[in-house]
Amino acid sequence: MIKKILVTGAAGLCGSVVSHGLTKLKYKVFSCDIKSSPSPAAKALGIPLSKKIKKIDLRKINKVLKITKGMDAVVHFGGIPRHKPHEDVFKNIIDHNIVGTYNVFEACRINKVKRIIFASSAHIMGYHDRRKKLDDRSSFRPDSHYAVSKCFGESLSKLYSDKYNIKILSIRIGSALPKPTDMRFLSTWISFRDLIHLVNVGLKSKKLYCSSVYGISKNKRAWWNNREAYRLGYKPKDNAEKYAKDKLTKNEFKDKIALRLHGGVFTTDGLKGKLSNILKNN
Ligand SMILES: NC(=O)c1ccc[n+]([C@@H]2O[C@H](COP(=O)([O-])OP(=O)(O)OC[C@H]3O[C@@H](n4cnc5c(N)ncnc54)[C@H](O)[C@@H]3O)[C@@H](O)[C@H]2O)c1
Repeated sequence: MIKKILVTGAAGLCGSVVSHGLTKLKYKVFSCDIKSSPSPAAKALGIPLSKKIKKIDLRKINKVLKITKGMDAVVHFGGIPRHKPHEDVFKNIIDHNIVGTYNVFEACRINKVKRIIFASSAHIMGYHDRRKKLDDRSSFRPDSHYAVSKCFGESLSKLYSDKYNIKILSIRIGSALPKPTDMRFLSTWISFRDLIHLVNVGLKSKKLYCSSVYGISKNKRAWWNNREAYRLGYKPKDNAEKYAKDKLTKNEFKDKIALRLHGGVFTTDGLKGKLSNILKNN
């Protein structure tokens, strides 16, 4: 039975929300982060910090080995999350997202941790045509170096499930926010309660081997078929459509290419390719 859980990135937006949620579900939750103050995203939304966050840098394998000892599962949310407004330099993405994720998986293998929930991103599908509905079997078309780091994490998941028998759920998070604030989020939003529930599905589902699912609520305008999440037992309660009549920003609307591709403005940041070629090869 899964009881003791380590949440990485617990001072961040998703990490704090999920740490609180899993504690309420009676798991014994241990939290760690490179910092003990809330991340800018968590701070901006006033998300309360989880209690007793252990300061651990995921780039240091020895520290990760110590903190994962005795855990039944690790919920891995620590890393560099997004463009602000452009993505971080590749050196930082390699260190925090690629080396950091490798260290978490490797420590789980050595310490015989049974399950890993990995925070992937819908941006691994960024250059797909938005008119095409995607599912868990669609191929990767990452729209940034950040997204490539998530492809690495999902490949690592395949290796560690087949070779080392760890059950792994990769959640391709769309937009985790209290509520949708932009038109895009009517398709990509996941409510906090649905995110907590989806992580809990990953911790509990007897059907889990190694799956990739989309981290979205039951949105009427979803671009992704989430059948694999439903197969595992995901029953989202929220639907972004409830907010469709709110005053929402239209951040992508000036950018025709962003509007046509799953990754939105991540795809046009530094773009030198042609939309026609991208679509032809879709
Ligand atoms: N929030 C979303 O909508 C969203 C969408 C897609 C994917 N994700 C993924 O979910 C995860 C959490 O995102 P978030 O929005 O909560 O971001 P966030 O920035 O609020 O949280 C990330 C946390 O990771 C910590 N961290 C970074 N490098 C670390 C290291 N080397 N060691 C330990 N901790 C480290 C940061 O200090 C931060 O507190 C990320 O992996 C992100 O890529 C989030």
